[in-house]
Order: sequence, then C-alpha cells, then structure tokens
Amino acid sequence: MEFVLRLDPRFRWTLYAALAVLFATGVVWLITDAWKDSPKGEFWQQASADLLMIHGGSAMLTLLVLGALIPTHLQRAWHSRKNRVAGAILGVTNGLLVVTAFGLYYAGSDALRAWISDVHSAVGLMVPILLVAHIVLGRRSMRAASGRGSR
Ligand code: HEM
Ligand code: HEM
Repeated sequence: MEFVLRLDPRFRWTLYAALAVLFATGVVWLITDAWKDSPKGEFWQQASADLLMIHGGSAMLTLLVLGALIPTHLQRAWHSRKNRVAGAILGVTNGLLVVTAFGLYYAGSDALRAWISDVHSAVGLMVPILLVAHIVLGRRSMRAASGRGSR
C-alpha cells in the first residue's frame, strides 16, 4: 500500500510550482514593502500590490492542492507510520499559513494584523527547508522499509 505515497508527477509539480510562486512573491513583497517610503515609493507600492495579487491567486491554487493531498497523501502516509514527525511539522506549518492568511484578510485591529503578518512571513520563510527535509526523510524511510522487504 505504501507505493501510493509517491505523488503523481503532474500533481507533485503543481504543488512545487504553487509553493514556489507563494514563496517568491512573499519574499519579494517583504523587500518591496520595505521600500514603499523611498523616493520611488509609489512604484514599489504598486509592485507590492501586484505581488500580493499573484500571491493570493497562487494561495487559492495551493488550497486546492493541499485539500487533495489530505486523502491521497497525508492519511495514507500517516497510517503507514512513515515520516510522521516531518509530515506533521509540514502539515502544521501549512495549517498555520492558511489560518494566518485568513487573519491577514479579516483581522480587525492594525496591531493584530501586523503580528499576524510577522507570523505568516516567518512561517512562510521556513517552507522550502521544511519541505526538502520532509521529502529527503520520507524517501529515506521508504527505502529503509523496502530494504527490510516490507514495501
Ligand atoms: C501526516 C503528514 C505526512 C506524512 C506522514 C507524510 C509522509 C511522507 C512519506 C513517507 C513520503 C515518502 C514517499 C515516497 O518516497 O515514496 C513523503 C513524500 C512527500 N511528501 Fe509527505 N507526508 C505528510 C504530509 C505532507 C504535506 C503536508 C506535504 C505538502 C505540503 C507533503 C508533501 C510531500 C511531497 C511533495 C513528497 C515527495 C513525493 C514524491 O516523491 O512523489 N507531505 N511524505
Ligand atoms: C510559501 C511561503 C509563504 C510566504 C513566504 C508568504 C509570505 C507572505 C507575505 C510576506 C505576505 C504579505 C503580508 C502582509 O500583507 O502583511 C503574505 C500575504 C498572504 N499570504 Fe502568504 N506566504 C506564504 C505562503 C502562503 C500560503 C500557503 C497561503 C495560503 C494557502 C498564503 C496566503 C496568503 C494570503 C491570502 C495573503 C494576503 C494577501 C493580501 O493581503 O492580498 N501564503 N504572504
């Protein structure tokens, strides 16, 4: 049953592309936002707004992909008892990003929104390293299991 933990390549690359766009637009937004009070402030403000639009659109695609991942990957992987710690960390990370993204849209007070923005950005910056660690550890655990003849 473990062979189904490998994702369909098209699905896997859609996930990687959506997360890469989220990461890139998030990081570049942090830079353009810091420049919004510079002499060319108007330009950077427009660039920030455009980046957030791409980020928000990509977030919608990511929600679809993450939702599809629950029955196809998370549940199966969890029941196979493989890579549980790295999987749980990645699951919680993505959950935090979705919850804080909701907060970015609907938080009432400016102070709360600023705090949520910091948490969202800090957690988001960790995504690449957590995802790569998850995949490396996951593949290692699958190889170890197949070496023991249980795959
Ligand atoms: C309960 C949580 C999770 C568990 C137990 C888990 C477990 C695993 C395991 C065992 C593998 C290795 C599969 C193989 O090489 O055959 C793997 C790979 C992978 N996982 Fe997870 N995972 C979890 C959550 C997640 C989440 C939340 C994401 C994405 C946000 C994710 C994305 C991936 C990707 C992209 C791969 C590489 C798949 C491939 O090579 O086709 N996983 N995971
Ligand atoms: C992959 C790493 C990610 C990084 C580095 C990142 C970074 C950022 C940054 C810097 C902002 C701007 C914060 C602000 O307006 O104060 C932002 C906004 C936002 N992010 Fe992310 N994010 C990531 C992943 C995600 C994910 C997974 C989702 C949801 C599925 C998401 C949804 C949103 C939404 C909805 C906003 C608000 C957009 C708006 O105000 O128009 N982000 N993100």
